[in-house]
Amino acid sequence: INSRSQRADADIDKVLLSTEQLNEILDYMGRQIGHEYQDKELLVLGVLKGGFMFTTLEVDFFKASSYGTGTSSSGSVKLDESFDLSSIKGKHVLVAEDIIDTGLTMSSLVSLLRRSGAMSVRVAVLLDKRARRKVTFDPDFVGMYMGEEFVVGYGIDFAERYRWLPYIGVPKPELRTVGY
Ligand code: IMP
Repeated sequence: INSRSQRADADIDKVLLSTEQLNEILDYMGRQIGHEYQDKELLVLGVLKGGFMFTTLEVDFFKASSYGTGTSSSGSVKLDESFDLSSIKGKHVLVAEDIIDTGLTMSSLVSLLRRSGAMSVRVAVLLDKRARRKVTFDPDFVGMYMGEEFVVGYGIDFAERYRWLPYIGVPKPELRTVGY
């Protein structure tokens, strides 16, 4: 594990958020969300693939992926076939996502959840790349606004790699997504 993690560390140019900073941010967000929903029954949906690391409150999971192992956001949301959309009817739903980029994934997901009869739908995101939006979308809870750089770690992968890194970092330019 150590040599694997050292090899991965060598691929990272810059640490954006350390494990300690991530813990602080998630702690703060957890308290903020807990406060907002204190007397409501909440259904937290973690977005696989990356979102599961960030979701400490999750009750259910579904897949919504617009990147896959590719490089650009398609904006179409694919739900896991095992996810039962009728289970969100009448519920206060909070979607937990690790990163919002163009906003395409979250805006289509939120409208799908609203159409499916959720009583309320809000979005919590660890990192928001606001400057890269293609559609207007403002998450309700934001861990940190960041620049346009491509990041990995803490559940966020690059073609399935670096997901398990305990911090969030910017990979070296030669390893970054082509065209990003
Ligand atoms: P959006 O639809 O463009 O907002 O895409 C959001 C999704 O794109 C996230 O859930 C990630 O899977 C992926 N993504 C966006 N930025 C990055 C990044 O910097 N590193 C890895 N994946 C990213």
